[in-house]
Parts: sequence; C-alpha cells; structure tokens
Amino acid sequence: MPAEPPNRRTGRLSPDSEPHQRRQVAESFGTDAERYDRARPPYPGALVEAIIAASPGHGVLDVGCGTGIAARQFQAAGCTVLGVEPDARMAAFARRSGVEVEVATFEAWDSAGRDFDAVISGTAWHWVDPVAGAAKAARVLRPGGLLAPFHHVFRAPPEVTEALAQACWQVAPDSPAPARWVSLRPSDQALDAYQPLFTKIADGIREAGGFSEPQQRRFGWERTYTRDEWLDELPTHGRLNLFPPDKLAQVLERVGAAVDAMGGSFTVPYTTVAVTAARTILA
Ligand SMILES: C[S@@+](CC[C@H](N)C(=O)[O-])C[C@H]1O[C@@H](n2cnc3c(N)ncnc32)[C@H](O)[C@@H]1O
Repeated sequence: MPAEPPNRRTGRLSPDSEPHQRRQVAESFGTDAERYDRARPPYPGALVEAIIAASPGHGVLDVGCGTGIAARQFQAAGCTVLGVEPDARMAAFARRSGVEVEVATFEAWDSAGRDFDAVISGTAWHWVDPVAGAAKAARVLRPGGLLAPFHHVFRAPPEVTEALAQACWQVAPDSPAPARWVSLRPSDQALDAYQPLFTKIADGIREAGGFSEPQQRRFGWERTYTRDEWLDELPTHGRLNLFPPDKLAQVLERVGAAVDAMGGSFTVPYTTVAVTAARTILA
C-alpha cells in the first residue's frame, strides 16, 4: 500500500514514507497472484480513455503491471502494451492472460532503445524511486508522450476498518499496521491521507525534468462488497499478504464478523487519482 500517515498508536511517521526502499513488501504481491487478479478492482474506463486521448499514440508501457489488470484494460481499448514487473509470479500470471511482460524493476529494466506513447503505472509507482522512475520514463517516452501513474484512494466503513486494526494489533502486535487506511481516524478524509503520495509523485517528475507541469485528475466510482468479496481482497494488500496463515485466518474471522454485523455487505467510495505529465517536445 502507499505511504502511510503517522501511526495512530505511536503518532510516528511509518517507515512507509519511503515505500520503494522496502523491497520485501514491494515484491510480495505474487504470494497469491490468482487471488490478486480475481479480487483487486479494475480501473475506471474513463481514466483509461482519458490517458489514451492525451497520448500521441497507442504504444503503452505498464510499469509494475502485476497480473495485468490495467494492461488488459488498455489492450481492450486498442493499445499495444508491454509490462515491466519484478515479481516473476505476477509476470507469469500476466503472460498467461495475454500480456507481454519483461521481468525487472523499472529502475533496472533495459529498454533496448524502444520508446512508447504512454508510461502508465496502476497502484505501483509508490514502489518505484520517484525521481529515478520519472527520469527513466522521460528516456523511453516519445516527444509528447504521457507519464501517468494512478492509484485507487478508498476506505472501507469505519466499523470494518476498526475491526481490521484491532484484530491485527491483537493477533500480530509487533507487525506494523497493514495498510494506510488502518491508520485513518473516522473523521479523516481518504484523499487527504493520500495527498502526500501524489505530491511526492509530482515532485519526482519535476525533479527528473523533461516533462510539462504535472496535473492531477480524479475519477470517482464505487464498489459494493459482499463479506466474501472483501475477505478475498484483504489478503492481497501489502503486509497482510505476508501474515502467517493461522494469524491471517484469525484476522479475517473478526473482520467477517464486523461485515456480518452490517448486514453482510457494504459499499466503498473510490477515487482513482492519476498524476499526469507530458514529455516535453524537444526543439
Ligand atoms: C499493488 S501491485 C499493482 C499491480 C498492477 N499494476 C495492478 O494494477 O493490479 C504493485 C506491483 O508493482 C510491482 N513493483 C514493485 N516494485 C517495482 C519496481 N521498482 N518497478 C516496477 N514494478 C514494481 C510489484 O511487484 C507489484 O506487482
């Protein structure tokens, strides 16, 4: 998950303020790639259309493509997509689903002189060095090409989030809170909590140079989860995906009870936020 606000118990800023340096979590999502692909939500169609409309062509590089959720959406919209993904388990799933993938971190990946009309990254740019990543994107984008990292901003209802936080702290008290949204107080706005991440992405683009001024675009939507759908998605999130199975089962049991108490389902408002910048056209 993206960088966290100060931890609610300690009041301290979590070490996640530099998430790309925590490689164990950064490359942990393939522990259950099938579940990841099944449970994680896709991206809004309006976001896909907006990125394509702002790009000079249909050649897309998907950084941290994972199992290929965003890549397949761009393919379905008529793009040719190459994925770059360091976790071989995620890459293997993406290939089986029809996405071409090269296994590497974006920072270490060899572009071999290829260039692209858009560099996208769905829920993955926080795992990439924000300055080195933007500088690399600048090198592989054609003039006018678009850099477009995007992330989902969301929070489950407070009852469900609180049950998750309590369960994690009781079952695994030495583990850090598993996700940004566990640290939120009921009055916090999810977008405010994520804003430092988007500021950091924009600052990285400015520092790398070679781009227009970064813009932020927001796409609102919502998703209704049944108890089973939420319990399927939860273990795909960073840190929870590293919990030992017995501890995870205890956490899920308590969260499931909280969803049952709400009638067995709930609706989550999502905002998918893209930070975009165009590769400056060189004279
Ligand atoms: C939360 S997943 C998102 C996957 C996919 N983009 C999606 O939308 O479902 C983050 C992905 O970023 C990958 N990743 C981590 N560090 C990376 C890096 N330095 N360069 C490229 N990808 C990275 C992880 O292996 C993981 O598959």
